[in-house]
Amino acid sequence: MESKYSILKTYGRLPISFEKGEGVWLFDKEGNKYLDALAGVAVNTLGHAHPHFTSGLKDQLDQFIHLSNYVNIGEQEKLAQRLASMTGMSAVFFSNSGCEANEAAIKFARLFANSKKVSDPQIIVMENSFHGRTMATLSATGSRKVQAGFEPLLKGFIRVPFDDLDSIKKIADQNKNVVAILVEPIQGEGGIRLPKNLSSYLNDLRKICDQNEWLLMLDEVQTGVGRTGRLYAFQYSDIKPDVLTSAKGLGSGVPIGATLVNEKIESIIKPGQHGSTFGGNPLACRAGNLTLDVLEQENLYLNATIQGSKIAHAVREQTKSLDFVIDVRHQGLMIGIELGYDCLELMTLALKYNLLISVTSGNVIRIVPPLVINDDESEFLVSNLTLMLKDYLKENKA
Ligand SMILES: Cc1ncc(COP(=O)(O)O)c(C=O)c1O
Repeated sequence: MESKYSILKTYGRLPISFEKGEGVWLFDKEGNKYLDALAGVAVNTLGHAHPHFTSGLKDQLDQFIHLSNYVNIGEQEKLAQRLASMTGMSAVFFSNSGCEANEAAIKFARLFANSKKVSDPQIIVMENSFHGRTMATLSATGSRKVQAGFEPLLKGFIRVPFDDLDSIKKIADQNKNVVAILVEPIQGEGGIRLPKNLSSYLNDLRKICDQNEWLLMLDEVQTGVGRTGRLYAFQYSDIKPDVLTSAKGLGSGVPIGATLVNEKIESIIKPGQHGSTFGGNPLACRAGNLTLDVLEQENLYLNATIQGSKIAHAVREQTKSLDFVIDVRHQGLMIGIELGYDCLELMTLALKYNLLISVTSGNVIRIVPPLVINDDESEFLVSNLTLMLKDYLKENKA
């Protein structure tokens, strides 16, 4: 629908609106159904209108939505406790989004630097990374497109290639102002890029951080909450980070961000040093608790692992003959299909095949469906996606 009204044009929008959602499906006004392989950009962990989730939220609406952080909030305490015990972290700061969770992480790294009397602290960040669009997080982000026009950027970031330990070791030898590494275990916006070996990459990063007394700060905003088959992707390794950020899937659609820290960081933060009016309110934390309930009750970790492998394997098999499909990468239900050229128009084309998908990094189709997707739905997704790619190839050749 062409609108002459006043939504600022920061997004390119698809020519579609939806009326209703149920599980992995979205329905338009005419009743056509679309498989939601975008899930609000890796947000709708439980799909749409999950009965346990919606009835719990309705309950919460009847009690109260918002209080303030001047009082104790039961749902917040419960969610913090669960997240801490499931990750081995010691305390949680709640905010409302991924960039805020990372903003807090960056501020905590500065406080850590301050406690060590480092006056010009530097954080090592990665090429091709994405951490958000606030001034600090866009400065940390490794994408000129995200930064352009917003200079001067925040100082204090040193950039190295992703999955390249030698570059980090070189910096360790030369620069005594480094206090932390901030990294996504798997790059999301950067094109679903996995390190060659996730577990050893994280183990090695941990080792370097320990040797140099740096913080290891993991941005699990996109990889978190079961998406990769574990609650957090770092749980594929034996390590624990010092700081862990989470958002997106944590509230299954209700905005929430979380910055988890270990004792070392917990001990240096004092009341008044950080805050958020809405952060950790009863509605958002109830959404987080309900999401964790269903993740466990329905073992969505296992489902993400099984369905993710099935989808990636089938797409690989069925697109073998298409030489413009360069790579199919995945960890759980975080799936990237890299094409040989930019393919943003596939987002619109996919609607004709009853699919909602996204394209990231210009040429990578991103498939991040709700974690409740079942066998039949995965098959629908694969067959419609491969059909679309075959037709797309024919059209491009014609
Ligand atoms: C890894 C990562 N970090 C941070 C963000 C920013 O999250 P938000 O858009 O909720 O601020 C994103 C969003 O895509 C992300 O993928």
